[in-house]
Amino acid sequence: MKIYVINGPNLNMLGVREPEIYGRRTLENINRDLKDYAYTIGAETEFFTSNIEGELVGAIQDAMNDADGIVINAGAYTHYSIAIRDAISGSGLPCVEVHLSNVYAREEMRRASVLAEKCIGVISGFGERSYFLALEALIHFIRSEQK
Ligand code: DQA
Repeated sequence: MKIYVINGPNLNMLGVREPEIYGRRTLENINRDLKDYAYTIGAETEFFTSNIEGELVGAIQDAMNDADGIVINAGAYTHYSIAIRDAISGSGLPCVEVHLSNVYAREEMRRASVLAEKCIGVISGFGERSYFLALEALIHFIRSEQK
């Protein structure tokens, strides 16, 4: 079982960027722990991070031939990228949308996601734990689909 973990714009700045909202740990550290965690529950992970919309679309397309599912924090693109929405939809892969912050408790513009409708679920508001919860939920979903 292989899961792509995809992070969008500004998430490369975790640890430095608004730590009161996004926490003090770097994406590198989170990804390392996520990789170990995935291993303990029987999955392999592939990480991709970019500030560029087209590169995120490319990563989702790559996942189509290489992965069983996707965990994605598309950052601000969550709220308006039809290209990322179409890529998720076109991939046919189960996908979980992730946010560190609780987007529903923030500015109005963050409350809408154009991706959520094409995802099996959304996890938002648990800081870095959101990624672990998403990974667990996705793996559980894929295993129950395979039965
Ligand atoms: C975010 C929430 C988005 O609204 C924001 O643009 C981000 C991070 C989160 O993880 O909480 O860049 O996706």
